Amino acid sequence: MSFGGSQYDFSDKPRAYGELARDLEHLLAGERNWIANAANAAALIYGALPDLNWAGFYLPVTSPSGARELVVGPFQGMPACVRIAMGHGVCGTAAQRRETLVVPDVAAFEGHIACDSASRSEIVLPLLLPGVAGEAGLVGVLDLDSPRLARFDDADRAGLERLAAIIAGACDWPKVR
Ligand code: SME
Repeated sequence: MSFGGSQYDFSDKPRAYGELARDLEHLLAGERNWIANAANAAALIYGALPDLNWAGFYLPVTSPSGARELVVGPFQGMPACVRIAMGHGVCGTAAQRRETLVVPDVAAFEGHIACDSASRSEIVLPLLLPGVAGEAGLVGVLDLDSPRLARFDDADRAGLERLAAIIAGACDWPKVR
């Protein structure tokens, strides 16, 4: 099996995301280490989807002062903001609400955190443990940025929510988050 960009045809998004979900399951099979799997998932997604300038993970942690925040995890793209307060930016808002956020124009999102000035639109998906309520069920967020306005539509949301569920279920996440 080969993993890489060009074999996915996103002119048919449901089909392309179906193929990508199948390849992601194969890529993560047999390994439970979250760093290894998140790193490979970021590389697969970044190589597969057109028009991305960043793809990666933020993980919930408690700061030295006791505040809840997100810390950057495995990613592809330019170096990124290291810590984001819970409830801040697109990532912190999606994490706090444990909901997918699609931002068609980051300039219009109050509190957007600009790590790369090339970013124009963004989608952030929570990684949730099934059946675990509240913040305990949140193991991270998957963040994708694009240099194109309105890059992410409902088909992207549906396809990426499926990928996020595969990643959440394929890893042993830190017990203390
Ligand atoms: N734009 C994000 C910050 C993370 S970077 O895009 C990689 C936000 O507002 O949360």
